[in-house]
Amino acid sequence: MEISKRPESMERITTKALADAYIAEQVAEIRAQVGDKKVLLALSGGVDSSVVAALLIKAIGKQLVCVHVNHGLMRKNESESVVKTFRDEWDANLIYVDATDRFLDLLKDVAEPERKRKIIGAEFINVFADEARKLEGISYLAQGTIYPDILESIKQAEGKKAVKSHHNVGGLPEDLQFELVEPIKLLFKDEVRVVGEALGLPHAMVYRQPFPGPGLGVRCLGAITRDRLHALREADAILRDEFDKNGLAEKVWQYFVVVPDVKSVGVKNESRYEGWPAIIRAVNTTDAMSATIEEIPYAVLHTVTARITAEVDGINRVLYDLTPKPVGTIEWE
Ligand code: XMP
Repeated sequence: MEISKRPESMERITTKALADAYIAEQVAEIRAQVGDKKVLLALSGGVDSSVVAALLIKAIGKQLVCVHVNHGLMRKNESESVVKTFRDEWDANLIYVDATDRFLDLLKDVAEPERKRKIIGAEFINVFADEARKLEGISYLAQGTIYPDILESIKQAEGKKAVKSHHNVGGLPEDLQFELVEPIKLLFKDEVRVVGEALGLPHAMVYRQPFPGPGLGVRCLGAITRDRLHALREADAILRDEFDKNGLAEKVWQYFVVVPDVKSVGVKNESRYEGWPAIIRAVNTTDAMSATIEEIPYAVLHTVTARITAEVDGINRVLYDLTPKPVGTIEWE
């Protein structure tokens, strides 16, 4: 990441007209920077990497090579929708890598949260680097660095400590040192969204709630197993579906399910039924440094509980986490 400060004179991008002007300026800058060379991008499908992909496709078309790594810790249908949007609708040069087994094999029996994060972050770089080495003639690496990342780096350079080791792509091996293209590095998140909409990206992608780099890996608590991960993914999809149907998706900043490695006794079909609890987390925040708990209507909680316990194998209880940040962090790991 290159540290550069946002000029004080830079107007906040709040309208389509301002976004269009920004897009035109960046398209020209990207073309001037990369010429006829190839650019590589790790496309997670998050807002930032998606907007960077769209800007680069607009500027240089198939000179951009996108790599989407499915680490097996994505939410339900997420990788499919990245492929659909970019390969089918944007005609992107997109390499899809299903690395589920690589990640889950490495994570087997690893219960300690920071070790899990480190393994996922390091393996992400390994998989991405493996793909990059197969390609020829790449000169640049595009990154979805945004201004808060720059501010965070400035803070860390001043010696302030982070609570968790958040991962974003960076730190590629020595043999893969590319020049960086960072077309949204001076933008705040709300501006990235305005630019994304102006570029014509799907609304659901542009307003997608934040999703951590280690994905469901930090929500499937303790040592990840495939069956519990599957239960988590299904339960999370039901929660998201009900939030959409009940108009909560746009009101709540982040909402998801966590499944701990604990079983309790329940009863199903008149028999003893041991299962995991699905824990719902729904928070509002402006900067993720602190967060408040959303008051979800009981009717929604009842429906979510009924659906998850009926539709998801292995879950026999649903709990609602009422802890603000601080003292709980937003994610459980
Ligand atoms: P915490 O759990 O620290 O999370 O309160 C604050 C926000 O950061 C997200 N998060 C991450 N984002 N890479 C990311 O890009 C990560 O490794 C990561 N871990 C947590 C979290 O979802 C919340 O929005």
